[in-house]
Amino acid sequence: MQHSKTDTGRLILPDQLFLSAVLEGLRSSPQKTLPSRYFYDAKGSILFQQIMALPEYYLTRAEMDIFRNKTTALIDALNMKQQLHYELVELGPGDGTKTIHLLKGLLGNGFHLDYLPVDISQSALNGLTAMLQKELPGLSVIPQQGDYFVKLKALKTNHRPKIILILGSNIGNLLDAEVSEFIAQLGDSLSPGDKILLGVDLVKAKEIVLPAYSDAQGITAEFNLNLLDRINRELGADFDRRQFEHRASYEASEGIAKSYLISLVRQSVSIGSQVFHFAAGESIHTEISRKYNDEIISGILQPTNISVAAKITDSQNLFADYVLVKSGAD
Ligand SMILES: C[S@@+](CC[C@H](N)C(=O)[O-])C[C@H]1O[C@@H](n2cnc3c(N)ncnc32)[C@H](O)[C@@H]1O
Repeated sequence: MQHSKTDTGRLILPDQLFLSAVLEGLRSSPQKTLPSRYFYDAKGSILFQQIMALPEYYLTRAEMDIFRNKTTALIDALNMKQQLHYELVELGPGDGTKTIHLLKGLLGNGFHLDYLPVDISQSALNGLTAMLQKELPGLSVIPQQGDYFVKLKALKTNHRPKIILILGSNIGNLLDAEVSEFIAQLGDSLSPGDKILLGVDLVKAKEIVLPAYSDAQGITAEFNLNLLDRINRELGADFDRRQFEHRASYEASEGIAKSYLISLVRQSVSIGSQVFHFAAGESIHTEISRKYNDEIISGILQPTNISVAAKITDSQNLFADYVLVKSGAD
């Protein structure tokens, strides 16, 4: 269970973190927001697995193409040494179905490592650990539940060389300035020569991107609306999900897919003693999914001590895994 401390050292329980993030988002004006990291309760994690299997959701298949068919190129680009013992830390691994191909390749090639998945979702970690025990029983797995922004600070506990995996365009849910800060902080916890494997979705036409965020079966809509159910259940709110609908937008010139929940009627919603009013048609912004190219990545890395060492794309050039290295040595 995740705990955090305030500046004064007072312990905050997880539901209080959730509550304050929700209240802050719904108070923001003129655009109400809700935090996307809370999509992943047990139901949200299952829905995301269903999203990854959707015909419209090309991202997972494209990155899977890299992990399954370009494993050797990935391992070469990571430039690891067989005599060293590595920590492979994955931030937000979800079900790990791509990572397992890399893990098998590394172990099969005689590399030594511990695998440390860090995920906010305990149910995602449980499923991942069970899958790895079955598929790779010899692998040392050290799962950690919690917010990776918090867990990052504990990375520097030993001197093992590190590879940090951030796959599935997870960073796309952050603004570019936030990603810069995140990577700079990550860099502070790494040693020269440590690597980051950063999987990102590439900027492309609206006809390809938009359906991935508003699929015909309505699974993405269900994923978005599940956040309201979670707020009702865990924070005692009274959202009526039938009075909201999912909407997504994307323009290639901007390169950011955006998800919203639209209030279908004029209504009020209570969370404890707090009441929030919605106009008919008013939106709650729930998620951004940024798309990238080399120029955007180099802009993000510019204020950090991390640089691009290699880039591997899928066979259709939809997705890229960048190998980033902390400057200093290799
Ligand atoms: C979009 S899924 C991607 C999963 C995986 N990386 C992949 O490529 O398939 C995002 C994952 O990150 C986790 N996650 C999201 N925000 C997080 C945070 N702030 N800290 C830790 N885990 C987080 C979610 O629980 C979920 O498992």
